Amino acid sequence: MKYQSQKVAYAYFLAAMGLFGIQVLGGLLLGWIYVSPNTLSEVLPFNIVRMIHTNALIVWLLLGFFGAAYYLVPEESEREIFSVKLAYIQLAILVVGTLGAVGSYLVGIHGGREFLEQPLWVKFGILVAAVIFLFNVSLTFLAGRKTAITNILMTGLWLLCLLWVFAFINPDNLSLDKMYWWFVVHLWVEATWELVMAAILGFLMLKLTGVDREVIEKWLYIIVATALFSGILGTGHHFYWIGTPGYWQWIGSVFSTFEVVPFFAMMSFAFVMVWKGRKNHPNKAALLWSLGSSTVAFFGAGVWGFLHTLHGVNFYTHGTQITAAHGHLAFYGAYVALNLAMFSYAMPLLRGRAPYNQVLNMASFWLMTGGMAFMTFTLTFAGTIQTHMQRIVGDYYMDVQDQLGLFYLMRFGSGIAVVLGALLFIYSMLVVRREVVKPGPVVKDAAVPKE
Ligand code: HEM
Ligand code: HEM
Ligand SMILES: [Fe+2]
Repeated sequence: MKYQSQKVAYAYFLAAMGLFGIQVLGGLLLGWIYVSPNTLSEVLPFNIVRMIHTNALIVWLLLGFFGAAYYLVPEESEREIFSVKLAYIQLAILVVGTLGAVGSYLVGIHGGREFLEQPLWVKFGILVAAVIFLFNVSLTFLAGRKTAITNILMTGLWLLCLLWVFAFINPDNLSLDKMYWWFVVHLWVEATWELVMAAILGFLMLKLTGVDREVIEKWLYIIVATALFSGILGTGHHFYWIGTPGYWQWIGSVFSTFEVVPFFAMMSFAFVMVWKGRKNHPNKAALLWSLGSSTVAFFGAGVWGFLHTLHGVNFYTHGTQITAAHGHLAFYGAYVALNLAMFSYAMPLLRGRAPYNQVLNMASFWLMTGGMAFMTFTLTFAGTIQTHMQRIVGDYYMDVQDQLGLFYLMRFGSGIAVVLGALLFIYSMLVVRREVVKPGPVVKDAAVPKE
């Protein structure tokens, strides 16, 4: 850590990890309600827990991105953050807004639009926090050295904050309502967040592999160009059945198919950088999460996305467990694992220590990733059977659900693995054993003569 103000990131990462814990525990409860539907149905119904699960996910990922920006912008711009105080005020607004949203959900107040259920005042708070953030980071960025990494990060963050405006536009016309809703939901994860992902991944590769900046920049520009080219019109894959003109079926199918390209490029990027890298960086856990993130993102977003993106396929699979399988693996690979890579890299530096608890951290990677992969398989099988019985044979929805119990039980089992992995990760970040022996200079990989 070179700049004092980078310390702000620490508070953001702590808040993010707290919500991450709540998010996965909420998921586990949802998974159990699928197995035993009357659980807590009076006090804490499924739809409320679901809101907490998905909203906590989005908010903690954003807190992680904001923290990452506060960590890497000073380092790339070679100067302190414009205002540390504003950064803490922004965090306070977001935390109060989150608690407010959860409180309202618990008493049954919500907007009812999936992912955007927050009461109006919370949405407004998020807007204010976004404006403070953009102001603070942009002034830092403009005054300092500009790199491809910060250019891309700033573009992504500006666009994603601007898209938030569509969370306020909710026309009576149901088709228009859905259109604007997808402007936020799709153009976040399949366009603007991808830029943020590319920038953070680029930063981690720069630090962990020691590959020249010019090489990293070339890759980043290709990733960004293909992401925007495919992702913007790719929104069409959500316009098939909401009452928009029929040509969206072709625009959506063609452009969203191209969306596989940037995810493939990010995976290739990470592996080629590690292969070319000369540096033997001691933080192996951060490297594992970086490689894991880009790989699982390729499968979750790229492969599982393509699986149901052609309109001829989506006609049958729309809104089934296939969607849930894809949603979980894509979010986990692209954005959860990426944030955890950044935490793994930055937390030791923020605490002024050498990388610690690496074995526990890497164990948490395999536990969580294994659990997520298994969950994806069980939901994909459930979704295939559901699609066939419900959409082809024409059985009733609830009759079909009765046939899927075994898959839901297995999904719950994999959820336990994910939750244990998440708790292990948080433990490995927060609890450090006191060092008994003062470590000497690192000689392991250095001057050992070859014989
Ligand atoms: C980091 C890990 C996780 C991520 C990124 C995640 C993400 C998501 C997302 C994006 C949705 C909305 C899905 C959609 O609209 O299709 C969702 C819903 C859900 N999640 Fe998770 N989740 C995670 C962990 C878990 C865990 C551990 C469980 C436990 C079994 C779980 C169970 C559920 C359930 C049951 C739903 C509701 C699905 C429905 O409405 O049918 N999730 N999750
Ligand atoms: C990291 C990137 C991505 C994330 C986080 C993500 C997440 C999600 C989530 C949560 C949903 C469910 C939304 C809802 O109905 O509530 C969804 C739907 C969908 N996604 Fe993605 N996705 C990503 C990338 C992609 C890509 C690259 C493709 C295509 C190649 C794709 C294709 C689809 C399709 C076709 C649907 C609609 C499913 C339906 O009709 O029910 N996604 N995605
Ligand atoms: Fe999409």
